[in-house]
Amino acid sequence: MPSKRTITILGSTGSIGCSTLDVLSQLKRMQVAALTGNGNIALLAAQARISGARLVVTADDNRYRDLKDALSDTDIAVAAGRNGLIEAAEMQSDWVMAAIVGTAGLAPTLAATRRGADIALANKECLVSAGDLFLKAMRDGGGRLIPVDSEHNAIFQVLEENQRHALERIVLTASGGPFRTWTREQMANVTAATARAHPNWSMGLKISIDSASMFNKALEMIEAKHLFNVTPEQIEVIVHPQSVIHSMVGYTDGSVLAQLGCPDMRTAIGYALSHPRRPNLSVERLDFAKLARLDFEAPDEARFPAMRLARLAMTRGGVQGAVLNAAKEVALEAFIDGRTGFLAMAETTESVMEAMVSVPPARSMDDVFAVDAEARRLAGEIINRTVVAA
Ligand SMILES: NC(=O)c1ccc[n+]([C@@H]2O[C@H](COP(=O)([O-])OP(=O)(O)OC[C@H]3O[C@@H](n4cnc5c(N)ncnc54)[C@H](OP(=O)(O)O)[C@@H]3O)[C@@H](O)[C@H]2O)c1
Repeated sequence: MPSKRTITILGSTGSIGCSTLDVLSQLKRMQVAALTGNGNIALLAAQARISGARLVVTADDNRYRDLKDALSDTDIAVAAGRNGLIEAAEMQSDWVMAAIVGTAGLAPTLAATRRGADIALANKECLVSAGDLFLKAMRDGGGRLIPVDSEHNAIFQVLEENQRHALERIVLTASGGPFRTWTREQMANVTAATARAHPNWSMGLKISIDSASMFNKALEMIEAKHLFNVTPEQIEVIVHPQSVIHSMVGYTDGSVLAQLGCPDMRTAIGYALSHPRRPNLSVERLDFAKLARLDFEAPDEARFPAMRLARLAMTRGGVQGAVLNAAKEVALEAFIDGRTGFLAMAETTESVMEAMVSVPPARSMDDVFAVDAEARRLAGEIINRTVVAA
């Protein structure tokens, strides 16, 4: 029996974080080192007690006292804020599950890569914003990078490294989200409550809305380009409403290899944390007789322009991924708060990308953070102007 490995979960209170803790309870081979959350203090404290974590961190400085009080009868160390997140990431552990939502996950995940931890990467924003610099940090640190995003995890499972020369394309599947068949007129007035209702997957609020706008697929296209070192032309998206095929790899002999499963992130998480062995997981099995059919549709970039913006960002290269992601995050928050419309998210993002088209490539992470800040400022300005005009 191999000895237990240790893991830190950045973003343990989220959808991926909770699924990770569930997988760990099934694997019984990993010991939790540190956990981080943000606003859900009650859940974070409960997770810390159950998992045996040695350090627990809230990203919100203002909630430090609440977390400290909730764990006052334990000897679990408590920290808060940006420094607390970095402390958790830098604490010795074999694995780090990077499951903070958004660019907030970038700095702590980088800290973990630099000390050589193996990274299970759910936070796609690390690759979208920092791309090559993030991969370089991984190489310098020496840890392994295993994708958790179901599409990338699927490709990771079926991409045969010794057939790399024959790799023709990767095909990312997309459920199409709740508005798959809607017209743009119908989408114009939707609210966050409607947009968050994903037909197949149970996920956090922001990624659910990103799935509805197809910005999630846009981020995944950029993530795939970096992870698998392919050209934008080698990345295809196909709408597959049942979310049973999680993605595919096509080879020069016409063969296509796919990974299938029920839509449950625990399969991808378990595979990542057990690699190269497959774990034994209690998740629903596919019942092909019940399934009966699998459907496919070409994606519609006119109704869902986010995918066109991803291609633009990939073709332009440089910092355009960071710009797309930061502008989108600001627009998404404005949409959740009811300050901007569903369709305006892509419009705002495209305007910011155009305004920052000639920003030179980032040479350091400081450059990436500066670009991120400028894109946020511009997106905020555009949204405020529209609110005043309306
Ligand atoms: N959910 C999925 O099925 C799925 C699939 C593939 C990829 N992903 C990716 O995985 C990441 C996490 O997604 P999720 O759905 O698990 O998100 P989520 O449910 O919203 O959880 C996000 C986690 O990040 C924490 N957090 C929020 N704001 C933070 C901040 N400013 N600083 C530090 N921590 C913060 C949250 O803490 P509190 O809850 O305590 O506030 C929570 O622990 C995203 O990058 C997403 O794109 C998710």
